[in-house]
Amino acid sequence: MSINNTNLAGFGDLSSFEPEALLGQLPGEHPRMAAALALGKQASETGHFDVAELSRIVNELYSEGFPAGSPLAKQPDFASNDSLSHIASDAVLPNATSPKGVTEAPTPSIWSAAPSFASTKPDFASVEALQLQYGSSGANPFSSNDIALDQLIVGLNNPYENELKQILSGASSKPSGVTSVGSGVGNPSNSSHSPYYFLQDSPLHESQLNQTGKLPSASHPPFDANLVRKDFPILSELVNGRPLIWLDNAATTQKPQAVIDRISYFYQHENSNIHRAAHELAARATDAYEEARETVRRFINAPSIDNVIFVRGTTEAINLVAKTWGKKHLSEGDEIVISHLEHHANIVPWQQLCQETGAKLKVAPVDDSGQVLLAEYQKLLTSRVKLVSFTQVSNALGTVTPAAEMIQMAHRAGAKVLLDGAQSVSHMRTDVQALDADFFVFSGHKVFGPTGIGALYGKPELLADMPAWQGGGNMIQDVTFDKTVYHDAPSKFEAGTGNIADAVGLGAALEYVERIGIDNIARYEHELLVYATAALCKVPGLCLIGTAKEKASVLSFTLEGYKSEEVGAALNQEGIAVRSGHHCAQPILRRFGLETTVRPSLAFYNTYAEVDVLVNALLRLSSTKAPTNFS
Ligand SMILES: Cc1ncc(COP(=O)(O)O)c(C=O)c1O
Repeated sequence: MSINNTNLAGFGDLSSFEPEALLGQLPGEHPRMAAALALGKQASETGHFDVAELSRIVNELYSEGFPAGSPLAKQPDFASNDSLSHIASDAVLPNATSPKGVTEAPTPSIWSAAPSFASTKPDFASVEALQLQYGSSGANPFSSNDIALDQLIVGLNNPYENELKQILSGASSKPSGVTSVGSGVGNPSNSSHSPYYFLQDSPLHESQLNQTGKLPSASHPPFDANLVRKDFPILSELVNGRPLIWLDNAATTQKPQAVIDRISYFYQHENSNIHRAAHELAARATDAYEEARETVRRFINAPSIDNVIFVRGTTEAINLVAKTWGKKHLSEGDEIVISHLEHHANIVPWQQLCQETGAKLKVAPVDDSGQVLLAEYQKLLTSRVKLVSFTQVSNALGTVTPAAEMIQMAHRAGAKVLLDGAQSVSHMRTDVQALDADFFVFSGHKVFGPTGIGALYGKPELLADMPAWQGGGNMIQDVTFDKTVYHDAPSKFEAGTGNIADAVGLGAALEYVERIGIDNIARYEHELLVYATAALCKVPGLCLIGTAKEKASVLSFTLEGYKSEEVGAALNQEGIAVRSGHHCAQPILRRFGLETTVRPSLAFYNTYAEVDVLVNALLRLSSTKAPTNFS
């Protein structure tokens, strides 16, 4: 069957169809996509479009799923909208990779890009309708030869929906803006040479190269927030009769089923204390725990598992460094530099250390946007400074600090650096070697893992030089009443029975993030943040606090006429969870003359539709100007 393209209602002019430009935008490679492009090219040359052939290709795409070699290839029914964790449950990917061209995408700062993104919101109503129509039944909408072409397009409920729509409409290489990670702002055809803030120009990890030393082709499907949401059971909760909208991700993230299942499996099949018995379950539990350590190592690109210490979280990690390395190396006259942005967890331990040692705490100021003033920071970096400790992303303002540059500056002054990754690990790629951080700390619960577990990374020579912190079992080689010989790191710093099950859960969380691809997450969240920023700015009386050019996840604000708690409570009535308060970062809020803000914070499972609900609720609140009238 062949029809003239002039009969195709709603289709673009195929004469301007440029397959190469489209191919350049695709998030990965797929043989069927190439075939569909060839078909489109033929159509543009002949003016005829072979629907039967297209239907065949789409059927193959639908039934084959992904190319051989992809972990997703094992699941032929991917397009039936199964949850990603089920699809990839037995596949452990190395860190997801993106073609070089994609990583060198332009950097729209959220401020310069905001206006253009306001108009590129995807039509979620139609996506949701599609999911209802096809998702639950798994019915293949492409099985009939008689299928109408517009149905074919509308019915495409698979990860390449947007790309196929573009092919069929003969779309130019203009980015779609928000729905397709591969063709959004990351479009190489838009390339300027400034990289995204969240993509480090670090060399690729060895694990990212295949056996031939080349980048593997697509190791992940395009990112789809509506698909990944299905992996998080709690996102189906109703709160006050409304669907839960979880915008408190900076406080803690929700957990995918893969993590819940992994912890449950541990207690059902592996539970034992570790490292100390000859029996089967001890071996299973030890293996699971040490595999989790290897996953953390890979996730942050530490050189060895011996550099990864399991701790309770960021707070404990910072305290560990302060009370071991700090106590050994600081004395009167020495200085510690932190930034004005810090969470209390990165202030109080250093104050305590200063009290004990006589060292002084200095604070690098920020400008009115909430970014560290590098010239002022530089002035603080004298030879007296032994340690610099700062956050990669501010939990109160969302500022992304220029971490690599600040670390280099500190090193030039001879100081060691602790980088607080609590708010960054879930939003951008972490490479402790490329950053050259001396210590890096994060909490599992902020990266879709369990509470009560986190990690401290330290450079090998620093860990070797650090005295033990807590004493007890697990960290010793030999004990007599006269003396104790300690293990080397990491065991030296893991006294007693640790949080074994949750370490395993953390490993599962990081593997889950790897399967989705941290760069996919970073791109999507950046676009969502740009959209949300523009939308919030339209709410009368709303004042955003923290307007740095480089930001991640956080949108702190005040609303005229309301206390932060009132806004938080009103939003809760609508099922929306945001934090209101001082966010354990009082100094930075006071820098802006405030005691509290309202703080929505985004994760990759948040959607444009959720942002719309938030903004509409705030618009209503703003228009009533009095909390008691809020309905
Ligand atoms: C930047 C930053 N540092 C440290 C912490 C402390 O993390 P935890 O409470 O998990 O130890 C947080 C928690 O919000 C944070 O946002």
